[in-house]
Amino acid sequence: MDKFKIQGGTPLSGELPVSGSKNAALPVLAACLLTDEPVILHRIPQVKDIGTMQSLLEYAGAKVTQDGGNVTVHAKTLDRPEAPYEVVKTMRASSLVLGPLVARTGRARVSMPGGCAIGARPINMHVSALEHLGATIEQSHGYVEAQAPSGLRGGSIHFDRITVTGTEDLLMAAVLAKGQTIIRNAAREPEVKDVADLLIKMGAKIEGAGTSIIKVQGVEKLHGAEHTIIADRIEAGTFLLAGALSQGDVLVTNLVPEHVGSLIMKMEQAGAELDDSQPGALRVRCLRRPKAVDITTEEYPGFPTDLQAQYMSWMTVAQGISFITETIFENRFMHTQELARMGANIRIEGRQAIVAGEDTLSGAQVIASDLRASASLVLAALVAKGETIVDRVYHIDRGYEKIEEKLAAVGARIQRVQDAATSQTQQAGGEE
Ligand code: EPZ
Repeated sequence: MDKFKIQGGTPLSGELPVSGSKNAALPVLAACLLTDEPVILHRIPQVKDIGTMQSLLEYAGAKVTQDGGNVTVHAKTLDRPEAPYEVVKTMRASSLVLGPLVARTGRARVSMPGGCAIGARPINMHVSALEHLGATIEQSHGYVEAQAPSGLRGGSIHFDRITVTGTEDLLMAAVLAKGQTIIRNAAREPEVKDVADLLIKMGAKIEGAGTSIIKVQGVEKLHGAEHTIIADRIEAGTFLLAGALSQGDVLVTNLVPEHVGSLIMKMEQAGAELDDSQPGALRVRCLRRPKAVDITTEEYPGFPTDLQAQYMSWMTVAQGISFITETIFENRFMHTQELARMGANIRIEGRQAIVAGEDTLSGAQVIASDLRASASLVLAALVAKGETIVDRVYHIDRGYEKIEEKLAAVGARIQRVQDAATSQTQQAGGEE
């Protein structure tokens, strides 16, 4: 398994470009199943989860061609509306094909996602929402089997808690349902708005995407379209924190500043200087240790849970004690044990992490446990004294495009190391 070897202590300086959003690309790719015409997508990040989603589309019968970040999906016929366990177990977001497959073909057989490192993450709200649109759904042998032989019909759904992919799944089902669908307590994440923007280009009738009430008027058929997805706000936030934590001077480009508004507020309170005078870019400077500033994660536009671990890395070297409260997932503090190996002083009490800032961290061997935890360990290693080895970086490859190349280009001393066993296996063409 690949590792990262990182020498800490170098302030980052220069330009960090942000890629297209993984969490917009996933529902946007699934939306291509809704038409028998080609859909052309741009700025698709080349990360592992996107490859997984593309293989799901091909499994169902779509043709996928890719040229760098340009991907064309042509779901002319879908002769196998299924998502098998072997694929779904590697990526929970596979459930995003459930809605489109039922809407387009009248049936779907999608493996239930197992739990994952950060929590149970069931899809009960996806299932009950689709039942509200007239699908009959059985759950057996670890699969969700949905049937809607005479098509879906519009309905009124009120999510009892906000779910991002649940909102996206339902939206993609509703666009071909007969009649009107109203979704209340919908997720307001920019990625929801982005998939709605594509659907509207494909001929869907949607109002209110990006707000908590979305209205959809079903249509008979959708046609092909072309779409460029939004910037990855979580990668952008990760880079802003890398610039601040390394006490550098970094220009993060190709981002949408208002998508990271909650992070900007907290970073400024903690003493970072952020300059948004250049359109589509943010310059971050922080020439001293930050002040301790509390955060509580919330659905958008609150502080994103996907930046909690990265922000915590910064707070481990803050002046004072910060309280970090995680309200979205029940087990999203696994990075704290690894940060403690680097000298961080963190106490967990239920959903709250209490972080007492230290002067600095010391490099150590650490293990990544999930996508955003691995990013937090890379950030911590940038500021730690000495060498850090981050193991199992396949986690980070799921959602960050060439992160070590981007960071090295702004001065980080980071290199990817393949351990002998892995490289021999890969040379022999074997699976990891
Ligand atoms: C999306 O996951 C993101 N993934 C996650 O990003 C992100 O952390 C999460 O939203 C919260 O912002 C994608 O967009 C592909 P939820 P999602 O449904 O949709 C519970 C990353 O690092 N819930 O909004 O799966 C659930 O367990 C990933 O890029 C149910 O109980 O999250 C969680 O506690 C990690 N039943 C809460 O709701 C359901 O049917 C919010 O989950 C659905 C969700």
